Amino acid sequence: MSLMIGVPTEVFPGEKRVATVPEVVEKLIKLGFRVEVQSGAGDAANFSDEVYRAAGAQIIATAAELWASADLVLKVRGPGADEVGLVRSGQILISFLWPAQNPELMQQLAARGATVLAIDSLPRTLSRAQKMDALTSQAGVAGYRAVIEAANAFGRFFNGQITAAGKVPPAKVFIAGAGVAGLAAIGTAASLGAIVRANDTRAEVADQVVSLGGEFVKVDYEEEGSGGGGYAKVMSEGFQQAQRAMYAKQAKEADIIVTTALIPGKPAPKLISAEMVASMKPGSVIVDMAAEQGGNCELTEPGQAVVKHGVTIVGYTDLVSRLAKQSSTLYATNLFRLTEELCKTKDGVVDVNMEDEAIRGLTVIKEGKITWPPPAPKPAAAPPAAKPAAAVPAAKKGHGHGAASEPMPGNKLAVMFGVAAALFWFVGAFAPGAFLAHFTVFVLACFVGYMVVWNVTPALHTPLMSVTNAISSIIAIGALVQIAPPLAGGLPPGEWIRWLAVVGIVLTAVNMFGGFAVTQRMLAMFRK
Ligand code: NAI
Repeated sequence: MSLMIGVPTEVFPGEKRVATVPEVVEKLIKLGFRVEVQSGAGDAANFSDEVYRAAGAQIIATAAELWASADLVLKVRGPGADEVGLVRSGQILISFLWPAQNPELMQQLAARGATVLAIDSLPRTLSRAQKMDALTSQAGVAGYRAVIEAANAFGRFFNGQITAAGKVPPAKVFIAGAGVAGLAAIGTAASLGAIVRANDTRAEVADQVVSLGGEFVKVDYEEEGSGGGGYAKVMSEGFQQAQRAMYAKQAKEADIIVTTALIPGKPAPKLISAEMVASMKPGSVIVDMAAEQGGNCELTEPGQAVVKHGVTIVGYTDLVSRLAKQSSTLYATNLFRLTEELCKTKDGVVDVNMEDEAIRGLTVIKEGKITWPPPAPKPAAAPPAAKPAAAVPAAKKGHGHGAASEPMPGNKLAVMFGVAAALFWFVGAFAPGAFLAHFTVFVLACFVGYMVVWNVTPALHTPLMSVTNAISSIIAIGALVQIAPPLAGGLPPGEWIRWLAVVGIVLTAVNMFGGFAVTQRMLAMFRK
């Protein structure tokens, strides 16, 4: 019997998102499930009951009925006080839960005998898990919205303009913390035409900042900022002092500051002091995305937009919910990908496979037993490459040449050349003259081929193969020689040789034009 997926209305005050959207309902049904949605669950995100019904969902009048009949409940926020009592033994719940911050809720849910998957506990560094990464999808929406809020509170254009009415300089935006939300904010602000600068304690994000159109501003202090798993750590006092000096300078120059800096399990680092706010130009804006975790700015009031020293400080904690249709759609897709992982058989039946690393990490309660925290991840998945910038040249050097990173000692190289020369002399002394010419071309061709192939980035080897394939159609020239009338004094080719040459030309023409066409298409995939 296929399971019933239930989607209740979110009960948290001001929460506008919904855990599934009509287009995902259709996909869940295709996966073999039945779907029921509480009446009005999607209203705040602009998804009416009718649209859900049209997608194949049943509309259920009350939360009590829905929780009573659903086998798998999809939610955005963890269950509220009234909902915990509705959780049934054997039921599966998937939602944000933050087990470290909500030990009491964890105990209550375990006592109900349910299985709970906390979407925030996904092992994010597993590349297979990216499609289920709701933290990333929601942070991206929040970063975008933060810039839109800033634009709303800011009294000027973002882009510079020269008009008959005067010259407008572009807005200067500074982003503190270039994680998922920060990068989304950089991209949004840059696309609106602002001059964007950003800083992060993890040096490896510098390239990403630049690729999104921003400039990375370094703190003048050497300290590695990665705390493992792609997250930051609390920095030393020396670093913090140097960082404060740099931020004070940026605050004076910036029109808009968006702060996103967080350290898992710790209060948000205080990066913007009251003096820095006072030093900003009147009319400037700060959007503090860390407001819920205490704020990156000393003067932030969580949930509010306040004006202090002439600067608007936006501390909204519902940025994602302010773009409910978009964030719900992305979240619903993340949950659909997770449901696919849970139902590999595509028959509407769920298997919470604790052997699967991603599912293991997500499952915080299994049939009433708390299974959080999960065992430490396997070492291979733990630290992401610390410095991609440094890793690239190393990989380039190493590949293909084998010992290139450790240059071959000079005497070994001399011996190798000596042996090769002796062999060549041997072949030259005994082989017929024509052979020697062909052999020389063969050796040089091998050498050139080797150099070409190993100096091309591995990602481009497939187009390289197709282009060499096209070039190999040079044999068409041989066929043309055969087909042509004999030169003066030459013997005419036999009739069958001439027909073979015709076939040869036709086939090599396919090879030649096809090879170049395929190469073009492949290279197009690498171009932006
Ligand atoms: P987050 O929300 O915990 O932190 C936001 C940013 O603030 C981080 O970039 C952090 O380095 C920065 N930060 C912390 N303290 C700071 C300080 N004192 N000054 C300046 N910046 C500070 O992190 P988020 O955005 O959830 O993820 C961070 C990173 O984790 C991502 O950028 C990514 O590299 C990695 N990640 C990797 C994934 C994967 O491998 N599949 C998936 C998701 C994230």
